[in-house]
Amino acid sequence: MNSSEKAPIGVIGVGWVGLVTAACFAELGHPVIARDVMAEKVDSLNRGEVTIHEPGLGELILKNKDRLTFTTDMDELLEGAKLLFVCVDTPPTYSGDADLSRVRSVVADLRADGDHVLIMKSTVPAGTGETIRRDLPGMAYVSCPEFLKEGSAVEDFLHPDRVVVGADPADSEAAAAVAALYEPLGGEIVLTDISSAEMIKLASNAYLATRISFINEIANVCEEVGADVGEVARGMGLDDRIGPHFLRPGIGFGGSCFPKDVNALKLLAGNSGYHFQLLNSVIEVNELQKRRVVSKLTKHLGSLVGRRVALLGLAFKPDTDDMREASSLVLSARLRGEGAEVVAFDPVAMDNARSLLPGVEMKETALAALENADAAVLVTEWSEFRELDWDGAAARMRRPLIIDGRNFLDADKLHESGFTYEGIGRPGVGTETE
Ligand code: UGA
Repeated sequence: MNSSEKAPIGVIGVGWVGLVTAACFAELGHPVIARDVMAEKVDSLNRGEVTIHEPGLGELILKNKDRLTFTTDMDELLEGAKLLFVCVDTPPTYSGDADLSRVRSVVADLRADGDHVLIMKSTVPAGTGETIRRDLPGMAYVSCPEFLKEGSAVEDFLHPDRVVVGADPADSEAAAAVAALYEPLGGEIVLTDISSAEMIKLASNAYLATRISFINEIANVCEEVGADVGEVARGMGLDDRIGPHFLRPGIGFGGSCFPKDVNALKLLAGNSGYHFQLLNSVIEVNELQKRRVVSKLTKHLGSLVGRRVALLGLAFKPDTDDMREASSLVLSARLRGEGAEVVAFDPVAMDNARSLLPGVEMKETALAALENADAAVLVTEWSEFRELDWDGAAARMRRPLIIDGRNFLDADKLHESGFTYEGIGRPGVGTETE
């Protein structure tokens, strides 16, 4: 390898994190070999087909296809790269603990030949890395948790706030090699021990989720006292100690990470003998928040039996087709439980949503979903909903009533179109009740 050649990178597990990691390292000039056990996925990636909806990812893979190899063969990976990023998922088990079976099976497949570095990107409970390190003597171990957000993962990877690199002092050379990979990206590198790195990841997600549940409770109080949570969050966020981010109220956080990691941290604490009181409330507030829309609807419509409710957006957030822990799942079940007829539209998540939302009728456009509806609920803040023909929408609906679950739409503009508008923690516009 001459000095201008970049170190080859191995990626184990080509899910969302693995694929973004592989594509971005290729973009930085590294040859990347990525291995997954699912032959079908590997084949389609080798044909250039990207099945994940993530802005910019497909383009990056296409642009760097000569530097990217996808394989099912672990030996090919081990021969091709020394630095191995483990990116397999750690979904919650029924008890809420992280399921580490995929991590364990990767570890079982590895050879501790003193040559490779195992770099853990998967989110694991604090303490896991030390155990793996003991199980793989002779292989350097580095914890390098990911902080990517779905929908902006490529941007986040290429412009990190910080990169956390946790290692035992005996593996300091490996830690330096990992830090060097990220140096060109400019984020601060936090060099620390393995357990602290693992805790930084869990604590960051739990803290962000706590902020969301906090602002959701503030929003609920604002509704009682006639204040506007948008103004409150703006005023709070200007305090440097608080900052403006993650203070958007709504109908609950979802996704594959916050619900899972809050619960995992709560259980990790509990299993270690500490009762993490605050996180119980974060979870409970989030569950209640998903259901508050139902009482907002009954306030306007009375009984929901036979009422047609249109959900605008289904994904857990915009710019993704991910339905994991989406608020739409709980909300549509509650609405159907109240006897409502539920129709829905989402620009990209409907294929994923169909099997998860039995009995919910999917429509090809937002306007088609709003046809003859008694109410609309904005569940996911897709930008295209701002541009919708709201005059046309009001004309199609049986009753132009909208609950804006993300405080995303312009209340006055909707009112001009004839809507009764209600958001979360902000004054409603129009007073139509029945
Ligand atoms: C989250 C973290 O933000 C990432 O840093 C982390 O890497 C990732 O989890 C992970 O552990 O893999 P993500 O789940 O993709 O990323 O999405 P976020 O943008 O953080 O949103 C999570 C949920 O919170 C969404 O349902 C969103 O609607 C909600 N949210 C977010 C709010 O309700 N209010 C806010 O102010 C912000």
